[in-house]
Amino acid sequence: MSKMEDIQRICLQRGIIFPTAEIYSTISGFYEYGPVGFLLKKKLIEYWREFFVESDDNIFEIEGCTVLPEKVFEASGHLKSFVDPIIQCKKCKSLYKADDFITEKTGVVVEGKTPKEMTEVIKKNKVKCPKCDGELAEVRLFNLMLKTEIGPIGSQNAYLRPETAQNIFTSFKRVFRSTRSKLPMGIAQVGRSFRNEISPRHFIIRVREFNQNEIELFFDPKHPECPKFNEIKNKKIRILTREAQKKNKKSVILTAEQSLKRVVRNEWLVYFMAKEFEFYKSIGIPEEKLRFRHMLPEETPHYSGGNFDLEIEFDFGWKETVGNAYRTDYDLKKHMKLSGEDLTVLTEDRRKIVPHVVEPSFGMERTIVGILLHCFVMDKKRGWNWFKFPAVIAPYTAAVFPLVNKDKLPEKAREIYDNLRKHFDIFYDDRGSIGKRYARSDEVGTPFAITIDYQTLEDNAVTIRNRDSTKQIRVDIDHIKIFLDKTLKSLK
Ligand code: ATP
Ligand code: GLY
Repeated sequence: MSKMEDIQRICLQRGIIFPTAEIYSTISGFYEYGPVGFLLKKKLIEYWREFFVESDDNIFEIEGCTVLPEKVFEASGHLKSFVDPIIQCKKCKSLYKADDFITEKTGVVVEGKTPKEMTEVIKKNKVKCPKCDGELAEVRLFNLMLKTEIGPIGSQNAYLRPETAQNIFTSFKRVFRSTRSKLPMGIAQVGRSFRNEISPRHFIIRVREFNQNEIELFFDPKHPECPKFNEIKNKKIRILTREAQKKNKKSVILTAEQSLKRVVRNEWLVYFMAKEFEFYKSIGIPEEKLRFRHMLPEETPHYSGGNFDLEIEFDFGWKETVGNAYRTDYDLKKHMKLSGEDLTVLTEDRRKIVPHVVEPSFGMERTIVGILLHCFVMDKKRGWNWFKFPAVIAPYTAAVFPLVNKDKLPEKAREIYDNLRKHFDIFYDDRGSIGKRYARSDEVGTPFAITIDYQTLEDNAVTIRNRDSTKQIRVDIDHIKIFLDKTLKSLK
């Protein structure tokens, strides 16, 4: 069993992440988060918010609707351009995402090619349906947005948003005015996005409903400087340049300042990239499993003037997890044109401009798979496998165990548990041997296990076991909260 298969099995067994409506097993590409998965995702999002939004006083968070009218996507270009090439077997009707399918079967990279060109590659290589050996139809384009209708007689077409970004563009002017902002300013949003993916796969790497955390950073193109650039200029990041991709060379490590001069050429993009590299390292992804790939021109989305994807190396290869795009003034201009609304702003020197935009777009599901994969410890010595989640995102901070279920130990343990529960996500476990309880606690990545034993009744202290070192120390009951707070901070 591969590491990823083992992780998926644990996710099912422990109810961490599992298929939606699984008792009917009718839809793929949708997943639920059980109690442990929910806490992991909640902590991850809270930490993200702290790291990227609350740390900057010019970034404001909003919450928009997931259903948006057709006009929004007509303006944004999604109605026309948010398409994937699709291919169907004439015989068994199986569907495949044509670009991935062709590359898998022939080794030819066809991303960015027209449906006609892709069909030619299929014909030339005599590719057949892998399921029934049937003949394949011509490649055609398929829009990935999920459509719905608003009102009882379906009078208005609408779509579930394929990215959270569009609410930010349509709300931009109101947020800019109401916060009395000046450029540069950012608007962040954490929320659900939906894509009718042709072949959902790799667990929750490609699903049809997922969480995006996005920031649109609006700036004056005449003043593209990032005021905080100095804070990150010496941070190191790994970049796979376009040239390296063409010549099959490796990624290079550059400081933020070098990246700006040699490759990226936009201070805001580099600012976010440097922060992302730090963030992903701090949530447990090793540095060598992280890189920014400069997307090739043919892969760059329709709205972007340049993209640097943060990729994580998974068991099946490298995959984009954060898209960093220089969206220029593309979206605001399109919305201005179609809505007729004036979305320009006045600069301090009284110029009327349409701001330019840099966008980091984080996918939480891919981030979670990265965390699960890279924090998973296959531990023969301990006798069980466990997750080395950094404390800041660990679903539970601690577990509380009474050594035995008698002699007033459960009462004392409950009292401690009830007090700590007000401050931390913790759980109580009194079933089975202490060894089994340590195993259960490690398996969901709990950094500390607090045991109440006979000595506790005499010295008012407990044993705290560290998940990573398995070392145990005695801590006074009145100091447990301070101990957890302190170690949580230092483990960020
Ligand atoms: P891919 O090429 O893998 O489909 P994408 O280029 O369409 O990805 P973006 O449109 O840049 O991805 O979306 C931004 C982020 O949203 C991605 O980096 C990813 O983390 C997340 N994301 C996009 N599509 C999905 C999906 N179907 N399932 C899970 N996460 C997704
Ligand atoms: N907002 C970028 C994307 O989802 O494609």
